[in-house]
Amino acid sequence: MSMGRIAVSPSTMQRYVTELGRLGETPEGGLCRFQYDAAWCDARDLLQTWFTEAGLHVHTDAAGNIFGRLVGADDSRTILTGSHLDTVPFGGKYDGALGILAALAALKTLRDNLGQPQRSLEVVALCEEESSRFQANFFGSRAILGLIEPSELESHVDAEGISLRQAMASAGLRADLITDAVRQDLDAFIELHIEQGRVLIDEQTDIGIVDTITGLVWESYEVEGRTDHAGATPMALRIDAMQAAIEMSAAITRRVEDEGPPAVATNGQWNVYPGSFSAVPGRVKFSLDLRHPDVKVRNGLLDAVHEECAKIAERRNVRLRIRSLKDESPATLDPGLQQVCRESAEACGLSWKAMPSGAGHDSQLMAHHVPTALVFVPSVEGRSHCPDEFTSNEDCARGATVLASALARLAY
Ligand code: HGY
Ligand code: MN
Ligand code: MN
Repeated sequence: MSMGRIAVSPSTMQRYVTELGRLGETPEGGLCRFQYDAAWCDARDLLQTWFTEAGLHVHTDAAGNIFGRLVGADDSRTILTGSHLDTVPFGGKYDGALGILAALAALKTLRDNLGQPQRSLEVVALCEEESSRFQANFFGSRAILGLIEPSELESHVDAEGISLRQAMASAGLRADLITDAVRQDLDAFIELHIEQGRVLIDEQTDIGIVDTITGLVWESYEVEGRTDHAGATPMALRIDAMQAAIEMSAAITRRVEDEGPPAVATNGQWNVYPGSFSAVPGRVKFSLDLRHPDVKVRNGLLDAVHEECAKIAERRNVRLRIRSLKDESPATLDPGLQQVCRESAEACGLSWKAMPSGAGHDSQLMAHHVPTALVFVPSVEGRSHCPDEFTSNEDCARGATVLASALARLAY
């Protein structure tokens, strides 16, 4: 089949990315589009319209995952493709969104140019992946895979004290029906995503075909010292939670840098109490995001980090509480689907390379249950999770065309 027949145009991708990218845009720059919030609901409505216009059968499951189905002659099983609709705070227009939009464009071009497939194809906008509002931890994928604990619907509470159940209700979703979202009919999952690093752009390679996705752990470090007057309290008498936390953060960074790549650690979220000029901080909470593709190495790093932080807490006479919030194991992608994606990239006349993913993705959950592939397109300067995140319309279109070619191989 000539790729020309199903090629997706840069202008199509530009329109999709620009219009969806307006939903959740902030005056400071970047997007805030969080699970079930107003921008998320507007994005859901827009995608339902676009999926319908593309001639797909549209439905939204109990978790708020939005689907567009291209029904095959054999409609008993499904080849699923898509990514997540939510963003990180002040994130970019491509992370997650591009995987949905490329899948939409791919199904539309296949329907328009090749007609009905033998096997059904479905695009999905997964309701949550970033845990920006709730610690919901890949909620859309977990709902599909039947991995939601009923207690989560009450226990996950956002910064305003709204529970996941309440937020679902405000988006017109019934949390008590969450088990209806479970799917048993999936034969494959393919996700197109921006690389979010700078390998492809530096090596001027068009397509990345991911072989492994790193494992990631999130922990919350809560340091309890004593709040005191900033002027009248001598340095030697302070129990300064901030100074202890800073030492802990430096020790974590040092230990992970000593381990070397691909180990990475980030303390990205800080809360300091009482947070005033004239008070010694009595309480500090900071986050740890630690990643490594080898679980044994990762766990060894965590043990070392816990030990060092405990020593610092003792020396500084502060109390330390560490809470585990997320633990996603690394994933290996399906060799057969990787081969289909390689053939598709070559059929499109594109250069490609096999590569690991340092970012986490819905694919790393899906891969433990369904044959899964993850395809990257270049990120300019490797920037992501920021307003400067950018992938050219041409690269978006190339990725969508490779996705269309791979889906055509699987379904026609
Ligand atoms: O953090 C990640 O790697 C992904 O964007 N959730
Ligand atoms: Mn992300
Ligand atoms: Mn993502």
